[in-house]
Amino acid sequence: MVIDKTLIEDIKSSTNIVDVIGEVVSLNRAGRNYLGLCPFHKEKTPSFNVIEDRQFYHCFGCGKSGDVFKFLEEYRQISFQESVKVLADRLGIAVSIDVPRQVQQQNSPNQAFYDLHEDALKFYHAVLMTTKIGEAARAYLYERGMTDELLKTFQIGLSPDEPDYLYQSVSKKYDEEVLTESGLFNLSENNRIFDTFKNRIMFPLKNEFGKTIGFSGRVWTKEDIEKGQAKYKNTRATRIFNKSYELYHLDQAKPVIQKTHEVYLMEGFMDVIAAYRAGHVNAVASMGTALTPEHVNRLRKLTKKIVLTYDGDKPGQNAIAKSLELLSDFQVDIVKIPDSMDPDEYLQKTSEKALGKLLVESRISDVEFWIGQLKPANVDNLQAEIAYVEQIAKIIAKSPSVTAQNSYISKVADLLPDFDFFQVEQAVNNARLTMRNQQMAQLSAASNSAYESSASGFRGTVKLPSTPKITGLRRAENQLFHRMLNHPMILNDYRMRDDFFFQTPELEELFQILKRDGQIDTVALSVLSQEVQTAYYQVLEEILPPETNLEEVQAIEERRNHFLREQDFRKQSKQIRESSNHGDVDAAVEALQMLIAQKRDME
Ligand code: CTP
Ligand code: MN
Repeated sequence: MVIDKTLIEDIKSSTNIVDVIGEVVSLNRAGRNYLGLCPFHKEKTPSFNVIEDRQFYHCFGCGKSGDVFKFLEEYRQISFQESVKVLADRLGIAVSIDVPRQVQQQNSPNQAFYDLHEDALKFYHAVLMTTKIGEAARAYLYERGMTDELLKTFQIGLSPDEPDYLYQSVSKKYDEEVLTESGLFNLSENNRIFDTFKNRIMFPLKNEFGKTIGFSGRVWTKEDIEKGQAKYKNTRATRIFNKSYELYHLDQAKPVIQKTHEVYLMEGFMDVIAAYRAGHVNAVASMGTALTPEHVNRLRKLTKKIVLTYDGDKPGQNAIAKSLELLSDFQVDIVKIPDSMDPDEYLQKTSEKALGKLLVESRISDVEFWIGQLKPANVDNLQAEIAYVEQIAKIIAKSPSVTAQNSYISKVADLLPDFDFFQVEQAVNNARLTMRNQQMAQLSAASNSAYESSASGFRGTVKLPSTPKITGLRRAENQLFHRMLNHPMILNDYRMRDDFFFQTPELEELFQILKRDGQIDTVALSVLSQEVQTAYYQVLEEILPPETNLEEVQAIEERRNHFLREQDFRKQSKQIRESSNHGDVDAAVEALQMLIAQKRDME
């Protein structure tokens, strides 16, 4: 049977080799490639590379290489046509070729490890659900809000309080090497084999593709807790399990993450189960370890948005701070859980519904998190306030939305007795300038060094002209003009408003031209005064997100108006001071009355 060439190309381009190989080889990201233990020869250190962007694999140990079809041919010992069929099936494409039955059986060197873990999972689950001792453990779990249905869904089990019951039940089925390397058993000094997990509630750990690769066991009896045993004990690193790579529940969460475009990142198993109970299946846990670059890379393949849902206690908050560094190219929200609780405790204390709501509605942005996290313990200490404002201004300046920046600025100002909105805004403006200058300095340094290595050998750094500091009012007007200049819809809106004019004369002049011509072309600009031209370029310097909408522009205008009222207010206060200095009591009283009325307006 001949399969159409374009169909083969289609199948290949719809398949990611990393996923296909990842189903049978545990792969870790290494730079732009993935690295694992070669399935084609025996090795202890990984030399098997999967190159994602060019969709092929290569082993530096045994020299084997090829594309995704070749991998299946070699790995499953099947023909090229059969490999095409396998991938077509995977994609749900009908291709009519008959694959002989016996070759469908896989012969991965890891297969025995997967099978053993599957058997162990069934064994532990049966112990929990059907035995006398299991009944007591279930009572503990019911106490924590679990139901039989949840125990089945999460395939939770119990390891018996016996030296080697699991070993006895599986040892005849597997090679000794598989048993000893699986992590499920330990060898004693006199070469006796014992079960690794004894008398613990067992959480099966699965890889991204749903294969069981390890376990985590929790102590549950009073005696064990009192003995001070570690609360959770995990499978040690094996050829199929690496704690710093795997995320609990990722296999189940994956399709929902792809649908909702976000993932809840939590600390523990019970937290993920609590989220599930609250209706959020797209939750995973890093199992207590700090988030690793490997975890992040796994999530990067699925979504750009992470909702950090760590425990509300101090260690949890510090873990957020650490994780944010690794997540700098993600959009991150943070769920605030009250009273130092973890998600599971919050559910126990309230209800499934309340947790479901909290996970959606109690989110803050990463900037808001920093505003709280960096806040000095004592806000009456001026030195600490200044240091805080400088630190937080840098973070706020990086936020892409002007509206958000302003709300952050007022939040910070509200926290500090010695700072008002304008002072914080000034700090943010300064931070933005410094940032921009640094970026430009880097750029020019890069071009300089290119220049230096050329024949002429010019040396020296370029001094960047620093933009003069501008007032909040001017900045708001610049932004407003920027929006009109780049978004015809916005310009139209303002065209129709007779009451609107710019406070800054240069901008007003430009505005008249813009209204008339719909643009400001080079010729029109060239005949304007130097001040107006400078004002125009200052507008162009504003860095605003490319997208806008009416609300954003209205918010900018509202801010501008706020500044205008403030300006007015200051003028009048000055007038009162002057009048009363001159003994003109009537004028002072009149001005004061106006001022009070205006202040009421502003509030
Ligand atoms: N953990 C671990 N080893 C430990 C302690 C914790 O691997 N000795 C991992 C587990 O995945 C645990 C997570 O870290 O779920 C968070 O730990 P912790 O907050 O201490 O436990 P909880 O998740 O609250 O567990 P529980 O609700 O069962 O008490
Ligand atoms: Mn907990």
